[in-house]
Amino acid sequence: MKTDGRAAEPRAVGVRRDFADIPDRVKAWAEIALGGAVAEAAGQRGGMSPGCAARLTTVGGRRAFVKAVGSELNPDTPNLFRKEIALLSRLPSVPYRPEPIATYDDGDWVALMLEDVKGRHPDLSDRADADAVWATVLEQVDELTPAPDGLTLPTMAETAQRWLARWADVVEQPGHFLPDSAVSRVDELHERTRSLPRRLHVSPAPGEEQGTTSRQPATLCHCDLRDDNLLIRPDNTVAILDWGMARLGPAWADPFFLALSWADSPEFDVRMADVGADEDAVTDLLLLFAVAQGWRAQQPAPPGLPTLPEFCRSEAERMFAGVARRL
Ligand SMILES: Nc1ncnc2c1ncn2[C@@H]1O[C@H](COP(=O)(O)OP(=O)(O)O)[C@@H](O)[C@H]1O
Ligand SMILES: [Mg+2]
Repeated sequence: MKTDGRAAEPRAVGVRRDFADIPDRVKAWAEIALGGAVAEAAGQRGGMSPGCAARLTTVGGRRAFVKAVGSELNPDTPNLFRKEIALLSRLPSVPYRPEPIATYDDGDWVALMLEDVKGRHPDLSDRADADAVWATVLEQVDELTPAPDGLTLPTMAETAQRWLARWADVVEQPGHFLPDSAVSRVDELHERTRSLPRRLHVSPAPGEEQGTTSRQPATLCHCDLRDDNLLIRPDNTVAILDWGMARLGPAWADPFFLALSWADSPEFDVRMADVGADEDAVTDLLLLFAVAQGWRAQQPAPPGLPTLPEFCRSEAERMFAGVARRL
């Protein structure tokens, strides 16, 4: 067990705005929601949204976590926050999701206030941290299978379809996007991933009747289970954060996204075998995600996300190492 109390440095780290520098109207909302003037705002490391992410303490000692973003920082991030807010309002209260306290949306700036989790990011190279997080994610998969009714969310199959479109650029210039080990077999790799949307299909997908085509029931999947979106409390219980990327997908999707932390080691294979996921589907999703991230690494950084291309590059590198091992 980790006992030194040092926080591990998360893989995804962006550049944030301080709480002091967000618009006055958003700060005023936070103080009303918290019931007191903010005495301390501790900016948090981990994750890439360009707004503020801070643990607030009032003069009277009340605490809460707030994240806030406006379209001037990035035009898409406010919508991610809106999706997260809409989803959290529909999910039941469980010990592994911090409770929403209040939300703010003036059509430009969007903010979410949550119960403050006094915890640290897990060190996923540490066995005890890894097992605690893994067990919590499996517990949540159980809870969210089948997915709660009436969610209008994209599906993993649609995401795979979007990622597949990136092959068009990749096959034209494989050396620009892929490591050498993949360049030499680009056609074969492309072929493997073509049928992934069908293999990721879940039932019912939005707009589909219960009990139709697919044998896989739809799970509500978080799809962004990295160390930066997880906290471990001093009693070793785990909190799962940040629902902006949620999708409907197969039950093995969230174990897969968490296992990506070990993509470049056989631990990935052992963990995915444990959940009984189809081995080829796992390899092909790993491959398609690697291609999608390798492509993104070569695009200009979006506004407010200067560290994104380098993050995608290093993620793609680790995932391609996993693909080479599994093939
Ligand atoms: N409820 C919370 N309590 C304490 N810290 C939190 C809480 N939610 C998020 N954080 C911290 O803030 C960071 C950013 O929050 P997150 O919801 O992941 O936003 P982002 O969209 O920027 O990734 C997390 O990595 C974590 O360190
Ligand atoms: Mg995050």
